[in-house]
Amino acid sequence: MSHQTVIVLDFGGQYNQLIARRVRECGVYCEVKPYTTPLEELKAMNPIGIIFTGGPNSVYEKNAPHVDPAIFTWGVPVLGICYGCQLMAHTLGGQVTAAQDDSAREYGKTVTYYDPSCRLFQNLPSCGVSWMSHGDYMAKVPEGFALVAHSDACPNVAIADEARGFYGVQYHPEVNHTENGIRMIRNFLYEVCGAAGDWSMGDYLRNAVTAIRERVGDGKVLLALSGGVDSSVCAALLAEAIGKQLTCVFVDHGLMRKDEGDEVEAAFAKWDLNFIRVDAETRFLLKLAGVSEPEHKRKIIGEEFIRVFEEEAKKIGRVDFLAQGTIYPDVIESGAGDAAVIKSHHNVGGLPDYVDFKEIIEPLRLLFKDEVRQLGRELGLPEYLVMRQPFPGPGLAIRVIGDLTKEKLDTLREADAIYRQEIAAAGEDQNINQYFAVLTNTRSVGVMGDGRTYDYTLALRAVTTSDFMTADWARIPYEVLDKISTRIVNEVSGINRIVYDITSKPPATIEWE
Ligand code: XMP
Repeated sequence: MSHQTVIVLDFGGQYNQLIARRVRECGVYCEVKPYTTPLEELKAMNPIGIIFTGGPNSVYEKNAPHVDPAIFTWGVPVLGICYGCQLMAHTLGGQVTAAQDDSAREYGKTVTYYDPSCRLFQNLPSCGVSWMSHGDYMAKVPEGFALVAHSDACPNVAIADEARGFYGVQYHPEVNHTENGIRMIRNFLYEVCGAAGDWSMGDYLRNAVTAIRERVGDGKVLLALSGGVDSSVCAALLAEAIGKQLTCVFVDHGLMRKDEGDEVEAAFAKWDLNFIRVDAETRFLLKLAGVSEPEHKRKIIGEEFIRVFEEEAKKIGRVDFLAQGTIYPDVIESGAGDAAVIKSHHNVGGLPDYVDFKEIIEPLRLLFKDEVRQLGRELGLPEYLVMRQPFPGPGLAIRVIGDLTKEKLDTLREADAIYRQEIAAAGEDQNINQYFAVLTNTRSVGVMGDGRTYDYTLALRAVTTSDFMTADWARIPYEVLDKISTRIVNEVSGINRIVYDITSKPPATIEWE
């Protein structure tokens, strides 16, 4: 694909993906590479610039990550962030030490003064808050470098060798707490590296379609479509590229939200592909009958899903490619560098064992989630699919507490639909990252009209979060909660009490099961 590339060299810091996303938001393609990548490999990528990320180490430690010093004679501009800045200083003959006193050790929001004549800070205010997180200090700056930013406590917050295009900042320009941080990254890309801004989703789509056609030839591709954002966009992209050579198998386990299965099917009507919707509700409910333990439910659903998919795959016979909706964060987390948290994602090395195929194709492998959504829009997928909140694989089975019945699932579907309608109508869906209703297995006494009721309690859950590892409960306005509560008890039979979950994660989890 013909676009410029920036390399984000990963030293294991917590914001590495964020840096890469920021670069792409600036219209420049970039890839995250572990710092151990051989220089020859980096050179072969022909980058216009390199960004060294932060990292948990100190450069003077024995086993601290290093780079081949030849990276600095290659002629490519470098921006070092935090550890990356210190590493650059250390490698080029400066001196980095542990900060001796607390004043030189900086964490959090710090007022910083910039030299506006430096290309990194060009056309930006000369003073602003930056986000610091470093315990080390550059005692001596390498030759050729000038000090281009300082704080009240630290004289060398940023260093620059304009002639060689080397810049180092002790703070994190990629986080929102740093005022104008993104514009500093933009300056590095456009003023220093000479970026043309040639990364756009429209171009990506055109290039991806060509590349998929070339790779697949006249082969057959199989995709398990879940209705989630990634698999839907993956399906749409493949449909655009190869139409009928693609078969999507959508296992409808009957545990989706109201109308969701039909919505997914409708979204793909515009493409001429083989779309198989397997109505497996009955077999899933039979397997789940009488099961109330959450992990047991998950296991049954996972196994049954595989079985259904396998049966469909067998009917199709041998396929050439199995497509997966793996996205870039999965790729980075599964195998790059020394990042502190490395987990393997279910998409990476998941399904393949039991389907007869030759190769795997992962057309979203280099895209971040927000780019996947953008691509979905370019492809003409409806907004409700593109902006869909995360939905657990086991679906509503883990939102009906205790044992499952079709009646309980239907009751939950109705209540959940009202909840979602009202949240959207109030515009609250813009502020909340995930929200859903839970049918508890508690029944309580109520009074409706002149009669006594003994019905279920419904719990409403809504959280704000950026990573789903921690979450806060959302402060939904009382009027909105009131309207939701009134509508649900009036419109959904079987529910006579509504509670709102006001626990954060931790100690609670987002889901109830
Ligand atoms: P918890 O409840 O662990 O949820 O705080 C964190 C995020 O993961 C989703 N989740 C699941 N997703 N299969 C999935 O694919 C599951 O079994 C599952 N359990 C929880 C949950 O919706 C939230 O976004």
